[in-house]
Amino acid sequence: MKHPFYVEIPLSFDRITGIANCSKPALERRYSDMKNMYFDEEKRKEKEKGGNNLIYRFYDLGIPKKEGDLAFGTSIIYPGKVGNEYHMTNGHFHTILDTAEIYYCQSGHGIMMMESPEGDILYKEMKSGQVIYVPGRYAHRSINISSSETLITFYVFRADAGHDYGSIKEKGFRKLVVEDGGHWTVIDNPRWKNYE
Ligand code: NI
Repeated sequence: MKHPFYVEIPLSFDRITGIANCSKPALERRYSDMKNMYFDEEKRKEKEKGGNNLIYRFYDLGIPKKEGDLAFGTSIIYPGKVGNEYHMTNGHFHTILDTAEIYYCQSGHGIMMMESPEGDILYKEMKSGQVIYVPGRYAHRSINISSSETLITFYVFRADAGHDYGSIKEKGFRKLVVEDGGHWTVIDNPRWKNYE
């Protein structure tokens, strides 16, 4: 059975790689795609010149962007750091701000960083088998805090919610997750811009 969009039934996501058995490939984000997103831009440039490896992949399966539909897929973040900051996704608000999202951690070890426009901060550690409910109004970014494992999460959200990446690109998140002495820790983002 095949739908008019890209979701073959049954669709499966590989347990180890997170890759789906569908005709639409996962989108890719490399060091060159994340200019100014990490605190240490010089280190990011070095990584871009030094092979420009993948940071993460995720799916847009082409589900119709309608209120009654659900968009879903996996987010696949490879282990690594830029300076002492762990590999992460760009992060976004939903364009329809008050729409939530479910993330199920399939494998790996990560942090879901969340913040509201008013500056309320939530962050949750996630391990294989755990679920994170991202409430409506909160921007969200996944961060891989493992030194060796890929972080694979399965996400579901209202298909018409839309993505607002712009405000995060301009201002960043208020908090960063960095390695300090072999452990992850959350610090204030020195580059966070408060325009209010
Ligand atoms: Ni989202």
